[in-house]
Amino acid sequence: MAIVEVRKLRKYFDAGGVHAVDGVDVATEEGEYLVLLGPSGCGKTTLLRTIAGLEVPTEGEVLIGGHVVNGLPPRARRIAMVFQSYALYPHKSVLANIVFPLKAERIGKAERERKAGWAADLLGIGHLFDRKPRQLSGGERQRVALARALVREPSVFLLDEPLSNLDAKLRASARDELKSFQQRIGTTTIYVTHDQVEAMGLGDRIAVMYEGRVRQIGKPVEVYDDPADTFVATFLGSPPMNLVPRDGRLIGFRPEHLLPEEIVSGDDRITLPFHVHRLEHLSGDRHLYGVVKGLGEETRIIARLPATVSVPITPDQTYTFAVHGYHLRFFDAKSGERTDPVRVGG
Ligand SMILES: Nc1ncnc2c1ncn2[C@@H]1O[C@H](COP(=O)(O)OP(=O)(O)OP(=O)(O)O)[C@@H](O)[C@H]1O
Ligand SMILES: [Mg+2]
Repeated sequence: MAIVEVRKLRKYFDAGGVHAVDGVDVATEEGEYLVLLGPSGCGKTTLLRTIAGLEVPTEGEVLIGGHVVNGLPPRARRIAMVFQSYALYPHKSVLANIVFPLKAERIGKAERERKAGWAADLLGIGHLFDRKPRQLSGGERQRVALARALVREPSVFLLDEPLSNLDAKLRASARDELKSFQQRIGTTTIYVTHDQVEAMGLGDRIAVMYEGRVRQIGKPVEVYDDPADTFVATFLGSPPMNLVPRDGRLIGFRPEHLLPEEIVSGDDRITLPFHVHRLEHLSGDRHLYGVVKGLGEETRIIARLPATVSVPITPDQTYTFAVHGYHLRFFDAKSGERTDPVRVGG
């Protein structure tokens, strides 16, 4: 277990002048599950590879357990990294795959098998030792890759989209498994994903990345409720936060907080004419898609009405909807930065 920290980290690739990581300061807590979330190309893998020592930083420092490790090779960093493609050796058995890193470190056979047995018990894959990777399901392969990482008893796990090859159902159960497994062993973990549902479910905290920078870091509920800018506001949440120009700035509110005016109280509420184009019924909720009447077609908004709200709504009609003042967030119309104080986790 160790704290991982990066200070003023930059990684530029000469080819094409790409600023893949462009000034990142992040520190995990001990035993924390930190999720790096961001769209494709925002620098997640590059940041992870730089922490692992697979990339040399252009500037800045990487610290593990309080020590600067910039000069240390990957092997000496006590880090285990699991990639999106598990890269198991196809011709080796599961057991041979798991003990491979130990063999490379010249650890004796009895000790190798003891460690493999321990990791296999934790992950429930002991019965698969004699199989080849192609005889395993996607989820089983993932567990073998994890076991292979685990036998080295790393002080830090770096996981780069390890579930992305799994179908939705397997993914959900693998996600559960991974989280409870991490809670049992308590190893500091940095987990990369571009899937916000996964991030919300797994992370003790989420660092939201965009264009090589961390835009916000906080508990899932903090970045969801209190986004620091319009990027974070619209990247998290499905459907995302609504943004509407008003009085020279942008106001933001979540679809679940946009409701028929008769059920929204308070002097500080805002009301708006919601022209509903379309309705969707999703697991008991009604999702309403439309525009703010008078603001043009480009200001699209979405409301999510729970089953408990029975107000009849039909498409192609305009209704007065409202948002309670407590749920309003304010953003600079140009920069997208929050203008009201971020309440938590900022
Ligand atoms: N070896 C390289 N040489 C040049 N540019 C690179 C290299 N590796 C990555 N990049 C660029 O750096 C940026 C960040 O890439 P990175 O792989 O870190 O993104 P990512 O957030 O992991 O994306 P994804 O979600 O698609 O995996 C991208 O613009 C990418 O094209
Ligand atoms: Mg990546």
